[in-house]
Amino acid sequence: MTFTIEEKATNSKPELYAHLASQLRSLLESESDFIANAANFSSLVYHALPDLNWAGFYLLKDRQLVLGPFQGQPACVRIDLGKGVCGTAAAQKQTIIVDNVNDFPGHIACDSASNSEIVVPLIRNQKLIGVLDLDSPSLSRFDDEDAEGLNELVGIFMDSTAT
Ligand code: SME
Repeated sequence: MTFTIEEKATNSKPELYAHLASQLRSLLESESDFIANAANFSSLVYHALPDLNWAGFYLLKDRQLVLGPFQGQPACVRIDLGKGVCGTAAAQKQTIIVDNVNDFPGHIACDSASNSEIVVPLIRNQKLIGVLDLDSPSLSRFDDEDAEGLNELVGIFMDSTAT
């Protein structure tokens, strides 16, 4: 299989996410394996969204988040629920946007290049499966349009993927 990530020249985030959603559907349509789809999801998002230095998953195992498929620099492997941005989003089962990670109490610095972050929980039948984490070297890189777009992408991922 060959898959080409199609660049979208637009300044509109909703347009960019709509384009990504259609690419993600094509990418995942014939596969339901969790690790394979999470790996391809990370690659698509990392390469198609501008200004990221990390994109990937932490997965819930025995009440800890454990590093899953990702793109970017090597990262911390285990995060306790309630710790850092990922553990907080996981504990609250809510998307968290951090404009400046240096201002977030307990932020876990895996890559010193990261300045802002968004974490989206993965939930199936009200149960937490893990989180999607994106980091950017820019301050205030993520806003509500990213939260909405990424939640839609995570929904497509969860619908196409077995857990
Ligand atoms: N910064 C995250 C840790 C994961 S890395 O950014 C990849 C946190 O505070 O939870």
